[in-house]
Amino acid sequence: MTKMKIYPDSHVELSHFISNNYDNVMDITSLGFYGIFIKRVIADMNIQPDDAIMDLGCGTGRNAELIHRYLNKNGSITGLDISELMKSQFTRRFRNIRQVEFLQQRIDIPFELSRSFDKVFISFVIHGFPNEVRHVVIQNAYNHLKPGGSFFILDFSEFDINAIHWLHRLIFKTIECKYAFDFIRRDWKSLLSKHGFDDFVEHYYVMKYVRLLRALKKK
Ligand SMILES: C[S@@+](CC[C@H](N)C(=O)[O-])C[C@H]1O[C@@H](n2cnc3c(N)ncnc32)[C@H](O)[C@@H]1O
Repeated sequence: MTKMKIYPDSHVELSHFISNNYDNVMDITSLGFYGIFIKRVIADMNIQPDDAIMDLGCGTGRNAELIHRYLNKNGSITGLDISELMKSQFTRRFRNIRQVEFLQQRIDIPFELSRSFDKVFISFVIHGFPNEVRHVVIQNAYNHLKPGGSFFILDFSEFDINAIHWLHRLIFKTIECKYAFDFIRRDWKSLLSKHGFDDFVEHYYVMKYVRLLRALKKK
């Protein structure tokens, strides 16, 4: 049975087929580039061995697996995702590893966990929500970070869709939902500042179409 989407126009609530084959889809559509790219991103996060890290919309746990390599036995990862299919892939991947947990949890509504984190990571999820919902996601990140903790958004950078190469525009228009078009137009640093973040650091990838934006929760 097909599940009703929360946001029918969004592309981050994935189909059954894509969810079940997500890692392969990423490898095939990127011609194998995705694995190299995401390793570089995780290396740029400056992960400390005993970090407690929350991954919002964690998917299959592929990113969490790379993050886990940087942790010692005191570090931990908490992955949150709405999807049953992602849950089964994530928990299979980490079945013998106690410091990595999965919570089946919507991230687009307020939630409360009893602990706080050194880092919160969100990778290719937030662009797929309506803008007012993104504020809830950012507030969830803020509320669960320790003072001085880092919020990492890996997603599209800010760019003018009409100013880019026609082929890139065609690809973006083919694969992305209407919320992504809104996402790339916004000034994310000033938006995050309004939530109490500052001290921004940016890393760019994929011809500058993708950005890892780090924002610190003020102490
Ligand atoms: C494009 S995938 C990205 C997965 C992962 N972050 C990555 O980079 O590989 C989007 C993920 O967001 C999850 N997702 C979508 N809407 C969500 C929501 N409201 N709450 C929690 N997770 C959600 C999906 O189930 C999917 O795993």
